[in-house]
Amino acid sequence: MPNITYRSADGEETPIDLKAGTSVMEGAVTNGLDGIVGECGGSLMCATCHVYVAANDVERLPPKSEVEEEMLESAAAEIRPTSRLSCQIKVTDELDGLVVEIPESQY
Ligand code: FES
Repeated sequence: MPNITYRSADGEETPIDLKAGTSVMEGAVTNGLDGIVGECGGSLMCATCHVYVAANDVERLPPKSEVEEEMLESAAAEIRPTSRLSCQIKVTDELDGLVVEIPESQY
C-alpha cells in the first residue's frame, strides 16, 4: 500500500499506509489525524482539507482543477504555490512516499 507522510505544523511526521483510491484527506480523517478536517466530505465545498505538498512532490500530482483553485482561495491559512486540497489528491501506487504538510489552522 502506498505510504503517505503527514507533517504537522510543528514538524511531527505521521506516515500512514493508505489503500489506493483513498484521498489524502480521507486517509487523515479515518486515522484520526489532527489538522485536516474535511468538513464537506470531499465535495470541494469547504477548503478545510488544505495541505502543502512537499516542493519536490508537486510535479508528481495531477494539476489542480479550476474549482479546486477557486476553493483554495477560501482556505484559512496562507496559500502557497504548493497548496492543494487534500480531498482532491487520490492516492495511487505512484504517490508512494508523498509528504504533505498540514497548515496551522483550517478555520
Ligand atoms: Fe471540503 Fe476538501 S474536504 S474541499
